[in-house]
Amino acid sequence: MARVTLEGVRKVYDNGFVAVHGVDLVVEDGEFVVLVGPSGSGKSTTLRIIAGLESLTGGELAIGGRVVNDVPPNERDIAMVFQSYALYPHMSVYENMAFALHLQKLPRAEIEARVRQAAQILGITAVLERRPRQLSGGQRQRVAIGRAIVRQPRVFLFDEPLSNLDAKLRVQMRREIARIRRELKATVVYVTHDQVEAMTLGDRIVVMNEGRVEQIGTPLELYDHPQTLFVATFIGSPAMNLIDGTAEFGGTPRFVATGDQSFSVPLTTQQAERLAATATQRLVAGIRPEDLRVVDSTARGATIPAIVDASEPLGNEVLLYLRAAGQDVTARADPHTLPRPGDRLPLEIDPARVHYFDRASARSI
Ligand SMILES: Nc1ncnc2c1ncn2[C@@H]1O[C@H](COP(=O)(O)OP(=O)(O)OP(=O)(O)O)[C@@H](O)[C@H]1O
Ligand SMILES: [Mg+2]
Repeated sequence: MARVTLEGVRKVYDNGFVAVHGVDLVVEDGEFVVLVGPSGSGKSTTLRIIAGLESLTGGELAIGGRVVNDVPPNERDIAMVFQSYALYPHMSVYENMAFALHLQKLPRAEIEARVRQAAQILGITAVLERRPRQLSGGQRQRVAIGRAIVRQPRVFLFDEPLSNLDAKLRVQMRREIARIRRELKATVVYVTHDQVEAMTLGDRIVVMNEGRVEQIGTPLELYDHPQTLFVATFIGSPAMNLIDGTAEFGGTPRFVATGDQSFSVPLTTQQAERLAATATQRLVAGIRPEDLRVVDSTARGATIPAIVDASEPLGNEVLLYLRAAGQDVTARADPHTLPRPGDRLPLEIDPARVHYFDRASARSI
């Protein structure tokens, strides 16, 4: 296995479009790193650069300590799994998996041993003699992964491998990939635009936006300490509530929403110090839906009046869409809270759970 290092990696396509603006990233040996971001953010381009399918316009790429900028894909010792499984339709599953090994001129017995072992890991031994069209989507996906496993590469690259599968199969395959990964202890770079996949699979996540890295961190670091408004709203579903406002320091320091004094949250000492130290006037308060607590109207302490717009009972929880002080907010509540549109429900907020951002720079304060 191997470490993958990107230093100032840049990609300008022939038409002049800058798809990747200088990415710095170290994927440790045996680490599972997920690149996540919206469509067009440069995830596939970055992955294809690592694979050697796209050239670099600038920067340096190293695999296992060796700079591979000019090394062709077949000499990089990587295996890539694509979204479109790209199986050979006229070959059996066995032949599909063995193909690359035949090209490498490995002995027949070695090829058979590797294919059988991969098939066993993936649970596709029973379908080895079938053609791809005789398989379900999940089985085809497994064959595509199997084809990568048998090559025993130093690095696995996955580009949205699960996006063709239905929701249930995706969850199942997600668990399979996590398990396979544990067994192979492989270095993996995995691209997805699905933040749940990113959160559940990655040791670390790289959030990309418009060809730039927004933040790199463990799933919980990104969730608990988003450094930018982009990361704050991209990670977490439903998205974090964002409320524009200002800090007021006369009396008890507090955040007050623009245009409505009734939306106010006291600042912790730490928050007050940090906010006072910045010259920023325009703030954004970020509050996760689970941090807007629905309380009953007799509750004491700081609460914000809110009116229910709509509710979505999901069984394990209910999502409440509310108007609070002229703002649309989403709250997660107990599944047995079943308010009707128009009901008044005060919201309680733990000040320490509020994230503050500078509106102008979109960075956390
Ligand atoms: N060959 C090309 N020539 C010019 N521009 C390209 C080329 N390939 C991709 N792009 C552009 O580069 C940007 C990044 O593309 P990329 O495929 O890396 O995005 P992505 O993050 O993988 O998106 P998606 O989630 O849709 O797969 C896009 O704006 C895309 O239109
Ligand atoms: Mg892509």
